[in-house]
Amino acid sequence: MQFFLDSALVDEIKYALDAFNIDGITTNPRHVQVSGKPFLTVIREIAKLVEGTEKTVSVEVNPHFMTYEEMVPEAEKLAAISPNFVIKLQCVEPAFKAMEALAKKEIRVNCTLVFSAMQALQAMRSGAYYISPFIGWKESNGEDVQGFIDDIVTIRDNYGFNSEIIVAAVRNARQIVDAALMGADIVTAGLSVYQEGFQHPFTQEGIRKFTQFWDKTPYE
Ligand code: E4P
Repeated sequence: MQFFLDSALVDEIKYALDAFNIDGITTNPRHVQVSGKPFLTVIREIAKLVEGTEKTVSVEVNPHFMTYEEMVPEAEKLAAISPNFVIKLQCVEPAFKAMEALAKKEIRVNCTLVFSAMQALQAMRSGAYYISPFIGWKESNGEDVQGFIDDIVTIRDNYGFNSEIIVAAVRNARQIVDAALMGADIVTAGLSVYQEGFQHPFTQEGIRKFTQFWDKTPYE
């Protein structure tokens, strides 16, 4: 399973690339705003970090753009900036036609803001490269997310669609493991979600105990 970092903070991305070799990056308008930099500046900086690799950077088209005519030229403009870019389009009806047109031009699309298996199915039919079901939002709303991921993975496999599934809006390690168990291809989460998941209190306890034994034993 691939781990993507959900961030537009250059230092965080550099750290996660170095410390645990993240496989890709996803950004959204909130992350870009948090970076404090203009959109094009920050996505160019992120592109530099993965230049010459296969790692993808998902960059989102202006969310005001709700028509095919607005989405396609903007997606083309962004895709021309870096071969690592995958263009995020919101999961709305005009985006499906845009995905088809962009796929024909070999521009990869990440269909974002996916909240139902039906939306995912149509995005797959339209040639989306990535499908991003947002599980955190659903779980906070009391909805079942395991079944949701399972449905999307099953549909993809039943018909041999090429889309990869990025489980997004992930809040904790349990959700990452659930996504892995359901056979999702990728998970995207913030740095702290991964770091918290890599830790365990028993690991700390073990280190404390073994250090005491070590300190009482000669090395040679
Ligand atoms: C995914 O691509 C999105 O950027 C992301 O996971 C959004 O989730 P959040 O803003 O609820 O954390």
